[in-house]
Amino acid sequence: MKIFVDSADVEEIRKIVKLGFVSGVTTNPSLIAKTGRDPREVYYELAQMVEHVSAEVVSEDPESMVREGLEYASIHPNIVIKLPMTPNGLMALKGLNEKGVRVNITLIFSPSQALLAARAGADFVSPFIGRIDDIGYYGTDLIRQVSQIFALHGIETKIIAASIRHPIHFIEAALAGAHIATVPPDVIWKLLQHPLTDIGLEKFLSDWKKGMGVNV
Ligand code: E4P
Repeated sequence: MKIFVDSADVEEIRKIVKLGFVSGVTTNPSLIAKTGRDPREVYYELAQMVEHVSAEVVSEDPESMVREGLEYASIHPNIVIKLPMTPNGLMALKGLNEKGVRVNITLIFSPSQALLAARAGADFVSPFIGRIDDIGYYGTDLIRQVSQIFALHGIETKIIAASIRHPIHFIEAALAGAHIATVPPDVIWKLLQHPLTDIGLEKFLSDWKKGMGVNV
């Protein structure tokens, strides 16, 4: 499972990318709005850092979605256009596919939506775990079902486990067969930490200093 950062905060993402395990970034209109910045600048800066940047359109009819998608895709080859799982989104997917632009279909909440998006030509689908948990169902089941369907039918569309809210979602997404997990920065910092690592390191260093006669 590859690891993407789910954020539009360029400086926070830069810190995490330095750790070496990140290959992509996903944004959405809410995350971009939080930055207060021109989205094109954000996408350009992110595309310098990672091989995949999902940039979501905010237009609502297929022609405008294609136009907006082509504009973002022209910023950098690493940009992938995110379209919503709606009839208009699927029509725009076709238009962008014809121009050779990669597409991530977002707001996927059922296995049938994922299958339709894949058959319509999506390169990526983004099933949301956390928002399904929010309404009282088990979000990870969706990842497992989509992963089984794609494997059974030889579908090459990549599954991006999205709406990850805590470390357990991350592990469950990996076990359920997601190709990619897109993870918010606060969850990434939690994934990195373990109290026994900190305690262990502190002991190694204090033993070293004692044994070597280093004054602390
Ligand atoms: C990423 O593609 C999604 O937009 C994001 O993961 C949604 O996360 P949320 O449900 O926590 O807003």
